[in-house]
Amino acid sequence: MALREIVKFPDPRLKEVSKPITEVDDTLRELARDMIDVMYDEPGIGLAAPQVGASIRMFVIDTEWSDEEVRRNPVVVLNPEISDPEDKIIWEEGCLSVPDYSANVERDAKITLRGIDLDGNPIEEHAEGLRAVCIQHEVDHLDGILFIDRISRLKRGLYVKKRKKQLLDEED
Ligand code: NI
Repeated sequence: MALREIVKFPDPRLKEVSKPITEVDDTLRELARDMIDVMYDEPGIGLAAPQVGASIRMFVIDTEWSDEEVRRNPVVVLNPEISDPEDKIIWEEGCLSVPDYSANVERDAKITLRGIDLDGNPIEEHAEGLRAVCIQHEVDHLDGILFIDRISRLKRGLYVKKRKKQLLDEED
């Protein structure tokens, strides 16, 4: 089965604010399964629905898996909400929708994540470090925000230039 293609910067769909999910049906479950496949294939540790072109509030995350270990624990979160931010942390972030780039971003060091799973059961997770960073990064996607929107204008400008050149080169 072909994997879904990742939407990449500067695709305007990445700037949309995604809609809350009101019903879990088979189409949504299939999308979640596809997103998990894409995340492991890339590989990545998180993927938000807008990154595969679906403007809905859902993301998948697995911050602990590795190629060497079989153990995988993908968590699918619908309608996520972040609360109880504590302390700050700076982490070097990358994104499957922002090719060939990474930069330091300041985030909340500890957060609480609430949402629902695909069975409609509530999710509540207290996260810190990489896990907290990743959750904030994915929720940003649902609000049309990329990590390059959280770095200096100068750094962002340099990346945009590099990316435009990369896209021109691809056309040749
Ligand atoms: Ni991302």
